[in-house]
Amino acid sequence: MKPFNLPSTFKLGSATAATQIEGGDLNSNWYHWGLQGRIANQESSIVAADHYNRYREDIDLMKQLHQEVYRMSIEWSRIEPEEGIWSEEGIKHYRQELTLLIEAGIEPLVTLHHFSQPQWFEAIGAWTHDKCVFYFTRFVKKVIESIGDLVNEYCTINEPNVLVNDSYMDGNFPPGKKGDMKAYFKASKHLILAHLESYQLIHKMRTEMGYSDTMVGMVHHLAYFESAKKDPFTKMSRNILDYAFHTLFLKGMVEGQLAFPIGHGYPHGKGIFCDFIGINYYSRHMIHFKFNPGMLFGEIKFKAGLTDESLNDMGWEIYPKGLYEVVEKVYRKYALPIYITENGIPDSQDQKRTKFIITHLEQVHFLIEAGVDIRRYYYWSLLDNLEWHDGYGPRFGLIEVNYKTLERSIRSSGKVYAQICQTKKIGA
Ligand code: NOJ
Repeated sequence: MKPFNLPSTFKLGSATAATQIEGGDLNSNWYHWGLQGRIANQESSIVAADHYNRYREDIDLMKQLHQEVYRMSIEWSRIEPEEGIWSEEGIKHYRQELTLLIEAGIEPLVTLHHFSQPQWFEAIGAWTHDKCVFYFTRFVKKVIESIGDLVNEYCTINEPNVLVNDSYMDGNFPPGKKGDMKAYFKASKHLILAHLESYQLIHKMRTEMGYSDTMVGMVHHLAYFESAKKDPFTKMSRNILDYAFHTLFLKGMVEGQLAFPIGHGYPHGKGIFCDFIGINYYSRHMIHFKFNPGMLFGEIKFKAGLTDESLNDMGWEIYPKGLYEVVEKVYRKYALPIYITENGIPDSQDQKRTKFIITHLEQVHFLIEAGVDIRRYYYWSLLDNLEWHDGYGPRFGLIEVNYKTLERSIRSSGKVYAQICQTKKIGA
């Protein structure tokens, strides 16, 4: 690898999500999911990394890591623990955390929905409920009223495709439905509408507050999909899955279009409903043809025969070039600023993380050289956390968390990344 520099204007940092790190929230659907024994090893979100109590210490660690930007989520169930009841305590907490971050010189990017939601919302059918968009945008309004003066950058919905897939197709997330295509598409449509309304609402509110620097985007999980074989059936499977998993959400959330099979037309008019596109990139998937209409005629697998060197702790392929491919494709289509809102590796021994970060940043460098307007890189994750239904086993952190004592220690890869964040020089 040739040494390279990233531009001084390119910002580096890390990302987290509330349920995965905070602990202490009895009103979230994920706490209830844990109670039902649906998290690996009967784990619970109740303590997680105790970030809710330790955010001051964690912000100090971020400073040590020279983080310029930080992506975090605001937990809906902490702001609206019961339907229509707002928690002043929750609001105060996030204001304090955000104020401290800003004082530390770290720019926050706030996610409004990162997989978890209040249990009351889950109980009424969550994203399949007819009034779900109303409920979500009412929460968004409250958030902007509460922190709109502190934060100018927002992600509306995190990985809508993974959310609906795991909730209604794979059954890993609440409500644990399997192969329910009807719910998959219904919820997808509502998530798209929730994004479109939130986008406009945040802009309107912050403009009224006198700000002109608002940036709102969606965060999309873009996997690199490759046909496992060259025959037309496999290619068709790849294209159908790529459409249902990726394109449908881009059309919806970026262009404002409800496309087949969730609708047609532009409920809010034609336009662009993202100021940036957030991309979470982790891996390459090989698509196989399978006659299974319920599962969209295809199967998603990892490449066969990979050696340990190119696998992470969860068995996902490490494939940096895929980052280039997915970003380039989206940028060529939309020409909107790109933020890499997540990219990371579970690596408990910390043997592959440094190389992972460097080889993915190299692709970022190639994208910049190719003229792509890519502005941010948020490593996933700042610290070890609850990997949803997979529990606390996977270790994604730049910072290791000892779950017995909750002590934090910066991993060697974290130290290397800190230097990269500070100097923007890689391999020199
Ligand atoms: C994407 C999700 O947004 C995040 O919550 C999760 O932990 C990472 N992927 C790793 O799987």
